[in-house]
Amino acid sequence: MSSDTGLDADPTATAEPLLVVDGLTIDLAGEVAQRGILADVSFTVAHGESVALIGESGCGKTMTAMAVLGLLPRGFTVAAGQIRLDGRDLLTSSQRQLRAVRGRSIGAVFQEPMSSLDPTMRVGDQIAEARRLHLGESRRTALARAVELLDRVGIANAARRLHSYPHELSGGMQQRAMIASAIACDPALVLADEPTTALDVTIQAEILELLRELRREQGIAVLLVTHDLGVVADFCDRVVAMYAGTVVERAGVDELFADPRHPYTRALLDAVPQAGDPRTILPVIPGRVPAAGRFPGGCRFEPRCAHGGDPRCLAPQHETAVAARRTIRCARGADGDAVAVPGARGLTAAP
Ligand SMILES: Nc1ncnc2c1ncn2[C@@H]1O[C@H](COP(=O)(O)OP(=O)(O)OP(=O)(O)O)[C@@H](O)[C@H]1O
Ligand code: SF4
Ligand SMILES: [Mg+2]
Repeated sequence: MSSDTGLDADPTATAEPLLVVDGLTIDLAGEVAQRGILADVSFTVAHGESVALIGESGCGKTMTAMAVLGLLPRGFTVAAGQIRLDGRDLLTSSQRQLRAVRGRSIGAVFQEPMSSLDPTMRVGDQIAEARRLHLGESRRTALARAVELLDRVGIANAARRLHSYPHELSGGMQQRAMIASAIACDPALVLADEPTTALDVTIQAEILELLRELRREQGIAVLLVTHDLGVVADFCDRVVAMYAGTVVERAGVDELFADPRHPYTRALLDAVPQAGDPRTILPVIPGRVPAAGRFPGGCRFEPRCAHGGDPRCLAPQHETAVAARRTIRCARGADGDAVAVPGARGLTAAP
């Protein structure tokens, strides 16, 4: 298990980062037990920082986010590791304590607003109830604050919208209401899992701007799960790249985009269309992410890696530091030493 999460920390700071995920390993119990659906996942989020979780579909981003929220699906168990928020180990917290953390310290924003808004409750009541429950406010005070919050997230006629049910709002308004609900109790961390994927481009930009303002004004940290590398470049400070349930690279956003070190991260970035010539042939990553539990015994990316085939790649890989606050999980190691493989597999080209 890696315990090198300190690599993410500012060496001059003494306090622990806001969120520390350290060596998180998750298994699925059942007739055919699946081990290591997440394996040795480590990263940190500092106060006020924005960290992106990236990777193809099925790489474990949502599973990681759900573990932080204490909301793993039935059958999934934490086999190893720690998740600490403000120094408190969430994995040893009771369900009651976790509910308090979810309401008070972590706000969650998902792709689908109706997954977290209660369709049977007026929007204002949902926000007010959170403040009454977690902050002990009176109904009147909590409702007044709900109006301010709806206004803050850009919902016009907030006093009137307080009485709307979620289905009476447009998709963009529902997303704003969910953000208002997520920040209702002034959380230290907002966990946003593809918060703009279902929205059109203009609303996407507005929602991201809103999250940016909340970071600036209230110092809220954001853990952002997204497929959109443009959003990562624009919004995030650091990046955690995941592949098949493992973290393959951690880096500052500028370093990662300028010089991705892991073959998977490099291939992911290569797959992004560049502005300019629309005829540019884009490399794509051949093959697919293996299904949970069907991972190769060695490097999980080996069957798809342009540099695979080397005996070193057939052993399980561990995260190693390649620079301050930078890690990769690859046999190529710290200096990006090319694996000498005659006829190493190349990336295919997409039309
Ligand atoms: N409820 C579940 N039961 C069984 N397997 C699951 C369940 N939820 C997720 N998985 C599996 O766990 C792995 C990680 O899934 P996860 O949803 O975290 O991926 P993701 O990176 O969020 O993908 P996407 O980008 O598509 O949202 C996948 O192999 C997925 O099939
Ligand atoms: S360990 Fe080998 S197969 Fe895995 S990413 Fe590195 S070079 Fe590729
Ligand atoms: Mg997901």
